[in-house]
Amino acid sequence: MAEQYQHDLLVTRTHDEQHRQQFVMSLRQHLASQIAPHCAAMYTDAIKSAYMEKNGHEPRDRAEIRQAMRDSSLYQLFSAMQRTSQELMWDSAIDSVERELPRLIDKSKQLAAQRSCGGTLTLAPDLEIPRYLTAYDIHLQPGGYHAEYCDDDIAAGALWDRAIYVYSMGYLGAEMDYWGQSLANYYRDQLAGAEPQRILDMGCTVGASSVPWKKIFPDAEVHGIDVGPALLRYAHARAESMGYGVNFSQQNAEHTSFEAASFDVVASGLLMHETSRRGVNRIFSESHRLLKPGGVMMHMDPPQFIDMSPLKAFLAAWEAYNVNETFAGVYREMDLVGEAVKAGFAAPASRVAMVDLVVPPEFQNYATPISQWPTVIAEK
Ligand SMILES: C[S@@+](CC[C@H](N)C(=O)[O-])C[C@H]1O[C@@H](n2cnc3c(N)ncnc32)[C@H](O)[C@@H]1O
Repeated sequence: MAEQYQHDLLVTRTHDEQHRQQFVMSLRQHLASQIAPHCAAMYTDAIKSAYMEKNGHEPRDRAEIRQAMRDSSLYQLFSAMQRTSQELMWDSAIDSVERELPRLIDKSKQLAAQRSCGGTLTLAPDLEIPRYLTAYDIHLQPGGYHAEYCDDDIAAGALWDRAIYVYSMGYLGAEMDYWGQSLANYYRDQLAGAEPQRILDMGCTVGASSVPWKKIFPDAEVHGIDVGPALLRYAHARAESMGYGVNFSQQNAEHTSFEAASFDVVASGLLMHETSRRGVNRIFSESHRLLKPGGVMMHMDPPQFIDMSPLKAFLAAWEAYNVNETFAGVYREMDLVGEAVKAGFAAPASRVAMVDLVVPPEFQNYATPISQWPTVIAEK
């Protein structure tokens, strides 16, 4: 498994913290590869027929499968363990962040002041955070994406960077950038005409999805936006420390301050499924406004339920039911091409394409990593 790249901002770990995180990764691997398949087998072997006897028909969709599975003690055990593993994941990273926060804040201020790679950071303290991010802590992340605990805080970024490495069990690569890298690769190989001059990464979090655009198109002006100030301070310093000048700003992707028709690419990795119906509509419309004629919108999210059996969709919806990824269940059933058309894109120039994720060799036969990510691609 790829060890996470130890850039200047990444928290270090004590021996105990490291082993706690390894335990969480092993637990999550065990649940995904050993326990989840038993839940599926139990459904097929016993639960489906019991439901049929009672209701006169098989469960028809994921909601009916959920009804049938809720009383299964095996599924309850799986679900409780999975939720505990999610809580442990944040807990296992939070101690290192609290211990190292003063040092990391100093380091981020120093990197931001040096600006040796020319990236910028623009915060907007009065920005209203959308309610879909404040109503609950998405994936149980303590404080959510927008938390800010002290002056010059970077805690939300530091926590995300380490905890999501544990969450993904390393399959997003050493720099946690395989979502962004896959989008940028796809654009370069399948969509690019001339070299893009301006690229926008919406919902950039710690910039792991913004930096690959700069790596692949070094002459382009790359922007990353997010609503979380502590994420953005971290993202800016992280990119500078890794040698990339990216312009980060605190903005709501639903309505940004960028000029109309000023970008060649507007992209996001795993943003849309954490918003809302109205959010999707507004972000697609804003993407359309921001693109130059001929520019491309690319929004990548987890697989759509319509492409799955009801059982697979039920299992894949675990996070929507149990760890506050509430809107993901809706987004993964939406007509995304229809949404792009509503936002102003022409139907023939809009599609959902499967973008290959760079899957590290050690994960290629392993059940959890999704190797193809549906991406709404629409050309203006
Ligand atoms: C799952 S994370 C994205 C991960 C990131 N793209 C990567 O590859 O590491 C979703 C991000 O979208 C941000 N976000 C959600 N709604 C937003 C909005 N309306 N405007 C800007 N950012 C938003 C969240 O704050 C969060 O940082």
